[in-house]
Amino acid sequence: MIPVLFEDLKHRIAFRDVVEGDLPVLLVTLNDSWQFRHHWRLNNIEDQLRWFKEMSTNPLNCNVIAIDMDVGDAVGLYRLTSIDLTRGFANSAIDIFKDKRGRGLGRRVLYTGGEYAKEKGLKTLWLEVLEHNAASLVIHTGRGLKVLGVRRDAVRIGSRFINSVVIEWRLYE
Ligand SMILES: CC(C)(COP(=O)(O)OP(=O)(O)OC[C@H]1O[C@@H](n2cnc3c(N)ncnc32)[C@H](O)[C@@H]1OP(=O)(O)O)[C@@H](O)C(=O)NCCC(=O)NCCS
Repeated sequence: MIPVLFEDLKHRIAFRDVVEGDLPVLLVTLNDSWQFRHHWRLNNIEDQLRWFKEMSTNPLNCNVIAIDMDVGDAVGLYRLTSIDLTRGFANSAIDIFKDKRGRGLGRRVLYTGGEYAKEKGLKTLWLEVLEHNAASLVIHTGRGLKVLGVRRDAVRIGSRFINSVVIEWRLYE
């Protein structure tokens, strides 16, 4: 069994490390979420293995699998990137696995992520949500999450440029 790194009893979500056995579901998830992402597309298993290696060895990043403690299932990927422990900042992002969306898990994983980030010594999380990502905008509001503004033409998807909404989450407010 893969050891649990963090348990949030309030939101009933636990985090564990990503292991190679997670790669198939992550390949599907990350590519499906491409329309909402700022990062690179993973085309094949070689890309995927490069991504996994970079992710597992980069000390400024932290990628964990979220488990729904009520059913014991892996439900998504939670990421902290560009971790800056001196200033207490990091970027945070969520991907709920495709067949688990729309059941309230996004919010639970988000709040568990906040608790996990606090445990790591972080004070502020930065999030960026593309303007057309309605479900993500819904969960990333309220409870101390504050919209700072819009970054115009933040990413190009096909022939379209898309704005992103920049959000700050002060974890102790
Ligand atoms: C965005 C994402 C994390 C949300 O997680 P989820 O578990 O599906 O979301 P939840 O079930 O917790 O709730 C989403 C909320 O958005 C609402 N919602 C969902 N789709 C919506 C839509 N098209 N328009 C408006 N609201 C929508 C839901 O009604 C719910 O609101 P409520 O709780 O007030 O009823 C998930 O869909 C996902 O992983 N998407 C792909 C990757 C991604 O976009 N990640 C975020 C990048 S910033």
